[in-house]
Amino acid sequence: MSVVDQSTTTAHVVGRVDDVPLGEGRAFVAGGVQVAVFRLRDGSLHATQAACPHAGGPLADGQTDADVLVCPLHLFAYRWRDGASTSGAAPVRLFAVHEEDGQLVVDV
Ligand code: FES
Repeated sequence: MSVVDQSTTTAHVVGRVDDVPLGEGRAFVAGGVQVAVFRLRDGSLHATQAACPHAGGPLADGQTDADVLVCPLHLFAYRWRDGASTSGAAPVRLFAVHEEDGQLVVDV
């Protein structure tokens, strides 16, 4: 099940896939919305809101693995699967993201 509703979103090119090193995240603006895009070590892409729902921490600087993203400020964790926090915070908003001709495209 996906929590990303693509029926009301618009695709935005935010940068190049190479702008995001493997295993890391970077902040971008997509359609006026600040987003954090991650490229996991398996090459998969994920995107969230840029500000942590707990207290606004920079999620693009968080640590991640295949299952969760951990905010660098207070270490709350969020599941990639559905954005839910595994440590008691409000859920994070997820966005669909894909690669198209080397470009990062985020649906916001
Ligand atoms: S601001 Fe992200 S865990 Fe507190």
